[in-house]
Amino acid sequence: MAVHVKPDPRALGENPLIAGLERLPVPPTTLTIFGATGDLARRKLLPALYNLAHEGALPERFNLIGVSRRDQSDDDFRQFARESITAFSRREPDATVLEGLLGRMQYIGFSFDDQEGYGRLRTAIEALDEDGGKLNRAFYLSTAPEFFPVITKALKEAALNYDPDVDVRAVIEKPFGTDLESARELQAVVSTTFRERQVFRIDHYLGKETVQNVMAFRFANFMFEPVWNRNYIDHIQITAAEDIGIGSRAGYYDHAGALRDLVQNHMLQLLTLVCMEPPASFEANKVRDEKVKVLQAITPPTPEQVRRDTVRAQYTAGTEAGEDVVGYLEEDGVPEDSRTETYAALKLEVHNWRWAGVPIFLRTGKHLARKVTEIAVELKPVPHLAFKSQGSVGVQPNQLILTVQPNEGVSLSLGAKIPGSSMRIRPVNMEFLYGSAFMSESPEAYERLILDAMRGDATLFTRNDEVDAQWSIIDPILTAWHDDDDMPLYRYPSGTAGPKAADDLIAPRRWRGL
Ligand code: BG6
Repeated sequence: MAVHVKPDPRALGENPLIAGLERLPVPPTTLTIFGATGDLARRKLLPALYNLAHEGALPERFNLIGVSRRDQSDDDFRQFARESITAFSRREPDATVLEGLLGRMQYIGFSFDDQEGYGRLRTAIEALDEDGGKLNRAFYLSTAPEFFPVITKALKEAALNYDPDVDVRAVIEKPFGTDLESARELQAVVSTTFRERQVFRIDHYLGKETVQNVMAFRFANFMFEPVWNRNYIDHIQITAAEDIGIGSRAGYYDHAGALRDLVQNHMLQLLTLVCMEPPASFEANKVRDEKVKVLQAITPPTPEQVRRDTVRAQYTAGTEAGEDVVGYLEEDGVPEDSRTETYAALKLEVHNWRWAGVPIFLRTGKHLARKVTEIAVELKPVPHLAFKSQGSVGVQPNQLILTVQPNEGVSLSLGAKIPGSSMRIRPVNMEFLYGSAFMSESPEAYERLILDAMRGDATLFTRNDEVDAQWSIIDPILTAWHDDDDMPLYRYPSGTAGPKAADDLIAPRRWRGL
């Protein structure tokens, strides 16, 4: 007997500010999560599934099969899921919804290279099909990246990669490769198992409401498009600053570093959304075609350009939220001579008619002064200041700030007259804030992405040629940083705005304050 996951009626209460919000249908699906007892599943995936259930967004026939190496029962896994949802869901779990969802979960333990385990998985999936017809299948690879090719090959071997009657999809977590070559190797395995339309490569930034709003902002408003080009824009700066350090992730992070961890994926995605041409329609391939063109218009930097246009640095001891913290080299699990960067700043240029000559600055780092992700578009100064003689101090170029997090919203700085008898100007802000405009909490990125993957909508996922183009930009930087002994690795105290060298990189312009 199927136990349907009933939505909490309170979650569906009418909010006139978001009236008209449609729920697109999601086909009946069996979702298998590989790495179901891992950190991502615990902190993000299981709570996201709960929130979808809470909103009635999951299909009536929905099943979750958790797979990992751990030997445990269905009930152990349900208890794990119950605890993770209670700890990490963005809303207080409702007992009925939660138990309904847990009732749809089962667990199969096997080592990812054990082909026999995939046979058991297949049997479990087919048994679920018997209860009312075949369900779509989605396989979510949320394991350590070295298992991505192993699992992909094994799914093919078990004939789980395709079914003529239903849709079979693979959702692949980041990182997709650790450089251009390894990304291509992984892609070679993926493409012999799945067609590209079956593959959903995750970049969770694309699931963030405010990241999607960059497209809405640009393509649903007429007034910005005429100035969105080299004639009016002086430069763009994209910041993804974090106040946290590397936590307990030294094993992963020391091999990755800031460039691989955040720039190759999230920051280049933000850049493409700001710089892309308007797509003909919001259809997955149309959008991704335009994004790829932007990436391909960024010429991979030469070693000289890397030395001139990039800055890398590592945090030293300092503070995080007022508490003393150790430096990167003192973190548990980090080799004492590690040269991994925890901060990266870059200057890039998109070589096309719209953007030629407009520098685009990116910066990201751990243990910076505060957490903020934003895109700042700075317009050129006015060509002539008529009221100069009246002492028009403080006239600044207009800045448009798209804030991804926190205080999600858009703000535009304008010059305004200071009240009084003289013509004195100062910048003021016009602001739109998500929280107050819609009075509704934004869903977590993973909620949207899981739903879209089950619906087969790949718009917010990274296509293979996009990943390739991203690594083509990042690879030469990694190589130059590795090979060039003269390329400095700067230090910055934790809790500050980063190294001074990054100020020199952007000069005579200035980074926005952190
Ligand atoms: C992940 C990185 O992809 O993004 C982490 O691996 C980083 O190092 C995280 O902390 C940031 O994501 P968010 O959603 O908190 O901005």
